[in-house]
Amino acid sequence: MGKDKRRVVLVGCGMVGMSYAYAMLNQQTCDELVLIDYVKEKAEGEAMDLNHGLAFSGSHMKIWSGTYADCKEADIVTICAGVAQKPGESRMDLLARNTAIFKSIVEPVTDSGFNGIFLIATNPVDVMTKVTCDLSGFNPKRVIGSGTSLDTARLRYLVGSYFKVDPRSIHGYVMGEHGDSEFVPWSQVCIATKPVLDVIAESNGVYKKEELEKIEVDVRTAADKIIAAKKATYYGIGIALTRLTKAILGDESSVQTVSVYLRGEYKQNGVFAGVPAVINASGVQSVIRCQITDEEQEKFDASCKELKDKIAEAER
Ligand code: 2OP
Repeated sequence: MGKDKRRVVLVGCGMVGMSYAYAMLNQQTCDELVLIDYVKEKAEGEAMDLNHGLAFSGSHMKIWSGTYADCKEADIVTICAGVAQKPGESRMDLLARNTAIFKSIVEPVTDSGFNGIFLIATNPVDVMTKVTCDLSGFNPKRVIGSGTSLDTARLRYLVGSYFKVDPRSIHGYVMGEHGDSEFVPWSQVCIATKPVLDVIAESNGVYKKEELEKIEVDVRTAADKIIAAKKATYYGIGIALTRLTKAILGDESSVQTVSVYLRGEYKQNGVFAGVPAVINASGVQSVIRCQITDEEQEKFDASCKELKDKIAEAER
């Protein structure tokens, strides 16, 4: 980092990858964007298409279809490659297929001399982040999964709608697996600094706790609903990845809910899971240790156990 051209290499030019690229173009996120895809022609076409928007975008980005050698000078390599869920499939169903795909990606990236941050979006994202960490041999601080960043955005949107407050003024996190065992530690969800549980308690029945339970289910099942309706999700994750990219390139030290390697935080060790963490140019600066309740801790433990079991199953 510290060089004058901020370079992102995107591996995987499917709908998620290209929604991310398009969001980065619109938000002038980096100086150089390199596209790599298993189908070279696809990356070339996508680079052309994005370049044709440059005259209208207010961005000076250089965009090209490249090779793994381009990773050497990259600040971030973002991996969106892999198969996505079909209707009725869980994110975990993708594990074996996407692990095989990652073996053909991570090695050439590291062989290039890449010395930046891996940002992983492919599902099951917590496990694929661990796979990337293991294959690359990188310090886990430099391997970040999109984790529950999108789920947290969904939570903030839905809580904001319920209380009629801008989602940006809703603070709270979805924690654990980006998947079926994720949960909302409601004790930590606030409007400004006021806990929503207090808002409900003081509302004389205007607001109800049961509605929060519905919101949590809606957050957990949002992807399934979108996939049933339009076969895939991509805009939300594209913007979430852009936000994470900005936090890294801008050395922001901003708090994002990402999949990071836990070393004792929230009583967990040796697992990648979604937690609020401080993200900057060095990757994961630290994990924010919120005062979650005992019941929330149990949910987090159960989610991490689910992730550990899946990893053990995959390694067998
Ligand atoms: C999502 O949550 C499918 O993981 C993707 O939108």
